[in-house]
Amino acid sequence: MTYEFILVEPQYQPMIALIRLNRPKELNALNLQLMQELKNALLELDKDDAVRCIIITGNERAFAAGADIKQMENHTAIDMLKIDQFSTWDQIRKTSKPIIAAVSGFALGGGCELCMTCDMIVAGESAKFGQPEIKIGIMPGAGGTQRLTRAVGKALAMEMVLTGRFITADEALSAGLINKVVPDEVYLDEAVKLAKEISQQSPVAVRLAKESVLKAFESGLQEGLYFERKNFYMCFASEDQQEGMQAFIEKRAPKFKGK
Ligand code: CAA
Repeated sequence: MTYEFILVEPQYQPMIALIRLNRPKELNALNLQLMQELKNALLELDKDDAVRCIIITGNERAFAAGADIKQMENHTAIDMLKIDQFSTWDQIRKTSKPIIAAVSGFALGGGCELCMTCDMIVAGESAKFGQPEIKIGIMPGAGGTQRLTRAVGKALAMEMVLTGRFITADEALSAGLINKVVPDEVYLDEAVKLAKEISQQSPVAVRLAKESVLKAFESGLQEGLYFERKNFYMCFASEDQQEGMQAFIEKRAPKFKGK
C-alpha cells in the first residue's frame, strides 16, 4: 500500500516496523488523511506475523504539532460530529502489537495524544510535550484530558490543559508520562533497542500482557484484576509458555514461536 503522508517500513529492523509521520512543512499536523493512512498501516502491520513491535516517529523538529488547525478552522459542531475525526484514532488503541512512540521536537495537542495512545514513549532531550488547545479556544479531544490525567496526575494535567504550557522531556519523565529521555541524536535508536527487547519475548504473552496493562489504565481495580487473571491463565494455552518454562529449567535461552 502506498501512502502520501506517512512512510511505512514493515521490516525497518528484523521484526520491527517503523511508521514515520511525513508532513514536515506542517510539523506533521494530523489531518484526516494522515490519520486514515495511519489507521490502515496499523491494521496491516497488526496482521503481519513478521512484525512483533511497531515504532511511530516523526522527524527531528516535530513528532506532531497537533490536529490540523487549518482543516478544522471553519467547521461547525455538527461538521465535527459528522466527520467524527477521532474514530480513526481508535485503531491505535486497538492494535494488539506494542507501539512505541519515538519523539523528537514537538508533541503537542493531538501529537501528544497520539504518543499517549501508544504503549511507550522514548524522547530526545529537547522534545516538548503539551496540550495547547486552550490557546486556540478549544480543549483536547483525542484522549488528552483522560490519558494525560491518568499518566501524570490531576495537578500537572490540569495545569497543562488549562494553560497550554509545554513540558520538557525531563519533566515528562519525572511525571511518569514517558519511558526514557536520551540524547537527541539517538532517540530512534533507543526506541529500536526497546522494541528489540520486546520482540525477543513470546508474542502471545506480549499481546495478553499489553491488553492487561491497558485494562489497568482504563478500568477499576476489580475489573482489571479479573481480566489479568484470565489472560494469565490463557498464557498456559501457548507452546511459548511450555518452551519458556522448560528453557528456564534447562538454563538455556527460549525459542518463542508465537504459538
Ligand atoms: N495545524 C496546522 N498547521 C500547523 C499546525 C497545526 N496543528 N502546527 C503547525 N502548523 C504549521 C504552521 O501553520 C506553519 O505553516 P506555514 O509555514 O504555512 O505558516 C508550519 O506548520 C510551521 O509552524 P510555525 O511557523 O508555527 O513554527 P514555529 O516553530 O514558529 O512554532 C509551534 C511551532 C509552537 C508548534 C506552532 O506551530 C504551534 O503552536 N502549532 C500549533 C500547536 C497546537 O495548537 N496544537 C493543537 C492543535 S488542536 C488539536 O490537536 C486538537 C486535538 O485534541 C486533537
